[in-house]
Amino acid sequence: MTEENVPSGPTPFQRILAGRRSIRRYLPTPVEPDKLRACLEAARIAPSAHNAQPCRIVVVDEPGLKDRLAEKAFSGLYRGSKFAAAAPVILVLLAKRSFVAHQLGSRYHRVHYYLVDIGVAGEHIVLQAQELGLATCWMGWFSRRHVRKVLNVPRRLKIVALMPVGYAEKRPTREPPRKTLEEMAAFNRVPQD
Ligand SMILES: Cc1cc2nc3c(=O)[nH]c(=O)nc-3n(C[C@H](O)[C@H](O)[C@H](O)COP(=O)(O)O)c2cc1C
Repeated sequence: MTEENVPSGPTPFQRILAGRRSIRRYLPTPVEPDKLRACLEAARIAPSAHNAQPCRIVVVDEPGLKDRLAEKAFSGLYRGSKFAAAAPVILVLLAKRSFVAHQLGSRYHRVHYYLVDIGVAGEHIVLQAQELGLATCWMGWFSRRHVRKVLNVPRRLKIVALMPVGYAEKRPTREPPRKTLEEMAAFNRVPQD
C-alpha cells in the first residue's frame, strides 16, 4: 500500500456525526455562554422553507424558572422525561407559522414545512453542541400545555420540542439499533423496507 491510498479514517465532521448520542444524564456544570451562543448561532443560519425562518427559541437557564418548567412539563404521564431537569440549560424550540411557507405548504402539499424547519435548526444545534463537547437530547414527550403556561408562550407560536443542553454525566453504553444503508436508501428505486 502506498502512502496515498492508506485510508485516512473519518473526517472531523464524520466523527461529530458518529459521536452524537441522545444524553439523559447531565452534570450540573454550567454551559459556557460562548458555547451556548455558538449553538444558537448554528440554528440561526439553518436553511428553512421559503427562507421563512420560523424557529424561535426560549433559552431557559435561570435555575428557578428551569425547575418550575421541569416540574410542570415533566409531571404525570411525562414523568419519564424528568432527566432533562438536571441539564443546566433547556431550550424550548418554537415555530412561528407563516402564511406562504407553512399554511399553503400544509394545505397543498400536506407537508408541514415549519416542522421540517425546526428539525433542521434543532439538529444544527445538536451538531454544534457535539463539536463543542456538549450533550443534548431532542425531546417531544412533555406537557405542551404546561410549557405554554409557565413561559407564557403566545398561541401563534407552536411548541415543537425541548432540548436539554449540558455536559454528559454518562453516555449510553449500547448503540441504538440503526437500519442498514440498504434498508434506508436505494439508487433509482424506493428502498424495500
Ligand atoms: C423529534 C425527536 C423527539 C424525541 N423525543 C424524545 C423524548 O421525549 N425523550 C427521550 O428520551 N428521547 C427523545 N428522542 C431521542 C430518541 O429517542 C433518540 O434519538 C433515538 O433513540 C436514537 O438514539 P440516539 O439519539 O442516541 O442516536 C427524540 C428524538 C427526536 C429526533
